[in-house]
Amino acid sequence: MRGVFVTGTGTEVGKTVVAAAIANAARAAGKRVAVFKPAVSGLDEHPLRPEEWESAPGLPDHALLRLAAGSSQGDDEVAPYRYGPPVSPHLAAELDGERIDPDRLRGAALAATEDADILVCEGAGGLLVPLAPGYLVRDLARDLRLPLVIAALPGLGTINHTLLTVEAARAAGLEVVTVVLTPWPDEPSPMELSNRETIEELGAVAVETLPHLDLRMPESWPELALSGRERRLKAA
Ligand SMILES: Nc1ncnc2c1ncn2[C@@H]1O[C@H](COP(=O)(O)OP(=O)(O)O)[C@@H](O)[C@H]1O
Ligand SMILES: [Mg+2]
Repeated sequence: MRGVFVTGTGTEVGKTVVAAAIANAARAAGKRVAVFKPAVSGLDEHPLRPEEWESAPGLPDHALLRLAAGSSQGDDEVAPYRYGPPVSPHLAAELDGERIDPDRLRGAALAATEDADILVCEGAGGLLVPLAPGYLVRDLARDLRLPLVIAALPGLGTINHTLLTVEAARAAGLEVVTVVLTPWPDEPSPMELSNRETIEELGAVAVETLPHLDLRMPESWPELALSGRERRLKAA
């Protein structure tokens, strides 16, 4: 399976935006892109009605990913488990009287790639978030054999959160392609610049930045180039 698994240092750290930027760049390069998200929760809190999703900012994750990828996948194909309450997927499933089935996730992710050149998968929460009893987001990334992109905030606290995530990834044998700091300010402060360098050095990992995007207009987004500097850093 070709593609990437976009995780993050937590929730609300830019995973969806980073995944959408990657999907959009691949689409712009002429690739057929499929997107996948094992579980979406919090749809109850969503301010917009489903019929508005395709044309407005503030899309739920699966709809923004699909829009960015230019994909015609259905909701179930992008995100097989969708829940109303804004809670962790395993709890959202429990409240709905079901369990997330890892086999179904693996099967759905594989099916999504059938008519696509690459798969951009967004995890839920961070790497150690449970999807089902005994099955973490990290286990899904490993099962899909996709390299990781880690979305993280640029500001205070990000060094620790990011390095913990890099360690948790490598402890399970996962490859980290790059960290992406988002939204990266037009005029970064000395601390933000230092955070970028410090993560790169201490994590021996490439760190990219993503500026603030107008989420309504994927065609206006800059290309998020994944440089693969990690390999060069390791080789050095
Ligand atoms: N580069 C960016 N441009 C515009 N908005 C961003 C950017 N990065 C993060 N955000 C905003 O930050 C918030 C969290 O991002 P999101 O991708 O939804 O996080 P996650 O998927 O990790 O929960 C959203 O409101 C999103 O629009
Ligand atoms: Mg998200």
